[in-house]
Amino acid sequence: MQNLKKVQICTKTLKNLLPQGFTPIVGLVLGTGLGSLGESLEHTTAVPYTGLPDFPQSTVTSHHGQFLAGYLSGVPVLLQQGRCHLYEGRQPDEVCMGVRVMAELGIQSLVLTNAAGSVNPLFAAGSLMIIDDHINFTGKSPLTGTNEDSWGLRFPDMSRVYDPEHIQTFEQAALSIGLRIEKGTYACVAGPQLETRAETRMFKMLGADAVGMSTALEAIAAHHMGVRVSALSCLTNQNLPDCMDEATIEEILAIAGKAGNNLARLLCAALPKLVDGME
Ligand code: HPA
Repeated sequence: MQNLKKVQICTKTLKNLLPQGFTPIVGLVLGTGLGSLGESLEHTTAVPYTGLPDFPQSTVTSHHGQFLAGYLSGVPVLLQQGRCHLYEGRQPDEVCMGVRVMAELGIQSLVLTNAAGSVNPLFAAGSLMIIDDHINFTGKSPLTGTNEDSWGLRFPDMSRVYDPEHIQTFEQAALSIGLRIEKGTYACVAGPQLETRAETRMFKMLGADAVGMSTALEAIAAHHMGVRVSALSCLTNQNLPDCMDEATIEEILAIAGKAGNNLARLLCAALPKLVDGME
């Protein structure tokens, strides 16, 4: 669904709660265990989701529920600290409300982050992966229903959802700070259960490198609205179908927390280069 009215009302309320004249250029969504990145932001203003009309709250305890406005490497950024998911019983329009609000506020670029399981045996737990494509395995789309022509096309192209220039920017930024980074395809599932061995084998055969429960719908919604999208996965566990270890949410959170530091370094290095006319 494309919930224009709700998004516009929410955008207006949020705008009034942000510092006067603050115009975010980059939007950021922080995924499971990665919320501490908010601490790297300077001159922050927090707006809890509870203060925004119809804004969906996350029920996941590891997710804060607020927007943070501030500056990262000198770039005005609006950051979503916590998001809601399909597995919480939310609909695609609710999952995508945050990115649509940020797009209405005029962000040029969106960086989505998540925790994901690696299905590529070469991609170790604890590493970061640039998403260069996705498989939407949820069976859902945020674009169903009447198309909002002021947002985008009825049948938007999805051949390059993740901006190729921004992918290069992240690769170069990783190199500049001496950080090994992977690049690959993210399969998005609805969850909340993790994958069986057979499902993991299937995702590997389909060409996925990682699997997770967020990001693809938000990427579709933002790309539909003409925002330049990029996304990073923190690979919290490795799923090898023939010798699969049990994965627990505690381990996933612990690894995401540790990788959060590298994510912050990478974003600080890359951010100014994601903005047209900066640098
Ligand atoms: N599967 C799906 N989502 C996840 C995983 C996983 O293995 N790890 C972290 N998020």
